[in-house]
Amino acid sequence: MRVAMIGTGYVGLVSGVCFSDFGHDVVCVDLDAAKIARLNRGETPIYEPGLGAMMEKNVAAGRLSFTTDLAAAVKGAEAVFIAVGTPTRRGEGHADLSYVFAAAEAVAAALTGPSVIVLKSTVPVGTNREVKRRVAAARPDLAIAVASNPEFLREGAAIEDFMRPDRVVVGVEDDATRKAMKRLYRPLNLRGPSMVFTSLESAEMIKYAANAFLATKITFINEIADLCEKTGADVQSVARGIGLDGRIGSKFLHAGPGYGGSCFPKDTLALTRTGQEANSPLRIVETVIEVNEARKRKMAEKVIDACGGSVAGKRIAVLGVTFKPDTDDMRDAPSLTIVPALIGRGAKVVIVDPEGRREGEALLPGADWAEDAYEAAAGAAAAVVITEWNAFRGLDLERLREGMAGDVLVDLRNIFRRDEAQAAGFAYTGVGRGSV
Ligand code: UDX
Repeated sequence: MRVAMIGTGYVGLVSGVCFSDFGHDVVCVDLDAAKIARLNRGETPIYEPGLGAMMEKNVAAGRLSFTTDLAAAVKGAEAVFIAVGTPTRRGEGHADLSYVFAAAEAVAAALTGPSVIVLKSTVPVGTNREVKRRVAAARPDLAIAVASNPEFLREGAAIEDFMRPDRVVVGVEDDATRKAMKRLYRPLNLRGPSMVFTSLESAEMIKYAANAFLATKITFINEIADLCEKTGADVQSVARGIGLDGRIGSKFLHAGPGYGGSCFPKDTLALTRTGQEANSPLRIVETVIEVNEARKRKMAEKVIDACGGSVAGKRIAVLGVTFKPDTDDMRDAPSLTIVPALIGRGAKVVIVDPEGRREGEALLPGADWAEDAYEAAAGAAAAVVITEWNAFRGLDLERLREGMAGDVLVDLRNIFRRDEAQAAGFAYTGVGRGSV
């Protein structure tokens, strides 16, 4: 099938590349000429395992190209995906839909034959219907269908998630569009994912409800972790013990410094705004947002407490600043709260992160950067793990400790075992790991 993908952000680029890998002819479009030039040179603008190789393969096969020329890309396309950003509008929690509407109107103006406009961007309930109205008003001469196809891929595992999804959700209103969407995803049928066909509104709600539920699950285990610390229980045992219950499930029960990233913070906020406006408030999700924000601040206090009540004048090694491993994304990362709080209390912070420096340097002014964990920890009073990169899991703790001036290890992701850290000479603090 001929596919156009409008927007080469995380979701757009990964989806476009994966659809081309299915064998479809895909043209990816972006207004950002510098980005398109980079893509045309074979460079990936984001760090995502496997993306570069898949991109190269499909460009070489002639199935994938990049352009700023929306009209040319859309001409003759059987499906035009819109995967532009929906950032939080400044000063409130609503999703900013101006990019979505602008893209839909530009596509409608450029279409030369019947087509389907598929919204991949995360959009509040009612947006697809509004796009449909605008498109019909702009092009009464053409049959343009609208479908909602939210994306559930995780950064760092995006290719795997796209190729082996738990489910594909599609909101459609007519049979022809349903068939077109089935054809697009047919290569996945071999692996048997469930395709959920539903209304436009339900598809939109599924995306927000899924993210809000996962954010709630993480926040729940984070609060249980705090209680474990007070009572002597161990949150990892508790997570395993409850996660084996099939009704609960073991995923997303890792206690940590709070969730971050491009989706959970933005989508939970937008969902609560929708709830408030519909006079159907989501009090659980509202509380999750509050608890998560407070948690990030609390983590800085945890580090300060572990350092004996003050970090003034102390060197602190920070291991990992991206919002999670295998990405260079810093959006809403807990480190953006924790590191400035430590610097504000007089600490000299030295950061190491396998991919975070390019974005992180400007976002974390006043911090120094090291090439590896040993260099970061040299002469430090404390080492603090904020992001659980694999490179840190295998560290030689004895060597790390020997280079340090102090013995404090604060492991906000529970990647080390207390006994091993203690054997290496560390005073160890994890998350939710009571000492009884
Ligand atoms: C998320 C959703 O998982 C994905 O389906 C959606 O499309 C986009 O948002 P992503 O933001 O890439 O994906 O990362 P995810 O792996 O879900 O992690 C989000 C945040 O939660 C990270 O900060 C992570 O560290 C944190 N997290 C996750 C925990 O603290 N504990 C967990 O058990 C899981």
